[in-house]
Amino acid sequence: MSITHPSFGTLDDDRVIIFDTTLRDGEQSPGFSMNLNEKIRMAEALTELGIDVMEAGFPIASIGDYEAVKAIAESIGQRDESPVICGLSRTGREDVLRAADAVRPAQRKRIHVFIATSDLHMKYKLRMQPDEVVEATIAAVGLARQHTDDVEWSAEDGTRTDPDFLCRCIEAAIKAGATTINIPDTVGYAVPEDMARIFTMIRERVPGADKVVLSTHNHNDLGLAVANTMAALRVGVRQIESTINGIGERAGNASLEEAVMAIRTRPDAMPFKNNVNTQNILRTSRLLSTITGFDVQPNKAIVGRNAFAHEAGIHQDGVLKHASTYEIMTPESVGWQKNSLVLGKHSGRAAFRDKLNALGYGEIGANQLNDAFRRFKDLADRKKVVFDDDIVALVDDEVMRDHERIRFVSMDLYAGSKGPARAELELAVDGVTKQAVATGDGPVDATFKAIREIFPHEANLVLFSVGAVTEGTDAQAKTTVRLEEKGKLVDGQGADTDTIVSAARAYVHALNKLLVKRVRTEPQALSA
Ligand code: KIV
Ligand code: ZN
Repeated sequence: MSITHPSFGTLDDDRVIIFDTTLRDGEQSPGFSMNLNEKIRMAEALTELGIDVMEAGFPIASIGDYEAVKAIAESIGQRDESPVICGLSRTGREDVLRAADAVRPAQRKRIHVFIATSDLHMKYKLRMQPDEVVEATIAAVGLARQHTDDVEWSAEDGTRTDPDFLCRCIEAAIKAGATTINIPDTVGYAVPEDMARIFTMIRERVPGADKVVLSTHNHNDLGLAVANTMAALRVGVRQIESTINGIGERAGNASLEEAVMAIRTRPDAMPFKNNVNTQNILRTSRLLSTITGFDVQPNKAIVGRNAFAHEAGIHQDGVLKHASTYEIMTPESVGWQKNSLVLGKHSGRAAFRDKLNALGYGEIGANQLNDAFRRFKDLADRKKVVFDDDIVALVDDEVMRDHERIRFVSMDLYAGSKGPARAELELAVDGVTKQAVATGDGPVDATFKAIREIFPHEANLVLFSVGAVTEGTDAQAKTTVRLEEKGKLVDGQGADTDTIVSAARAYVHALNKLLVKRVRTEPQALSA
């Protein structure tokens, strides 16, 4: 029987709603904080990707979260083709009202209310009795329904919840007005058989379960998040919650690109449809890596550098004769483009722009394009051949710096075996250029001291690593710097043909991320 949903109307039986939580569950994982502009850029890319519901944040968690959800609801949420904009909320009255306020400007809006239902969580975390959890569910869902017809209720730690109690809570949530029921595998403990058992039970036992959308939300602690998501789909679930690149708490969430491509590649096993424009997958993945500074591993399915690379001679031979011998989907279907154009110092802006498109950077704005092009010309003067990896490093470095409070301007360095190293550094802080000169035990020490002089802070340097982007002595260095402040860790990346400049850029990037993190971890800040 088809379901009539307040945001989507009558849903065909085979329609799967793609709920993206990159900006909420994904963003709350260590090192992945984004500032407002970065969230808006990501939200634009997710909209172009064609997701159905965008969980834009957890409005009560921090001022930053509230403002981001509101800004997304005000901009993207008011367009005709917008996804449903969703805000997360615990069951408290203040939480629900805050979420309602943040999503209000959107044409289609959802409040997502969650509460833990497992014995373990109720007893030790919530310190609530089961009856109180049911009461809280009814009150919160009812309140949310006063603000929007589209209300999702989640049973946190649902897969470890007593089945009878889970059914009781779901029934209460549906009666109170929930239109989507989500069962998270919060700690990534479930196996695919659990999905079949739990959702079949819900469909058989809970009155009204056939009138709402059932949803699955899987964490990847055992590497089973996508498998569990697929298992849930096969037993009647019609909303999947996932994130780009699988980012999220601990080992992350089910990866959106893997789930969507599994459905698309295996219609025989998963005969479902969704609205994702798969050709946009790579660029969305790249944008997220660029913004957060975390690349996916080379062998990551769909979006990893090696996902469509064939190394073994037999494989290469097979692919050349007939691609489907070793390729189960085409690289182009997820946004990879064949492009052998090599750039050099005579290449113009149009060729550079084409190259960026081919590399999945279609989202880059005009200012960043100009800055990146200037840096590319500079690099091409210093380096004989500019490889794709050089451009990726350079653009990432440029895009990451957009909207940052502290920006690297220039530096001079005096180092050698005869005495202390000396760094003369220029940074722009909130648009004001500042200089410092510092000496230190080696060039890196001197540089980092100069940064500290310009922008005093207490963070400790806990990791410093340098690698080459490509081969050769003229290769760019890519540096990672990890800073720690009050137990919070942030990673920054920088790239340059000069190793120390790349280190300075990485340190400044980490510092900027720390500033975002400070706002997100103000005393009242929370995560789900
Ligand atoms: O994993 C989880 O339980 C969650 C809920 C807040 C939906 O993210
Ligand atoms: Zn989660």
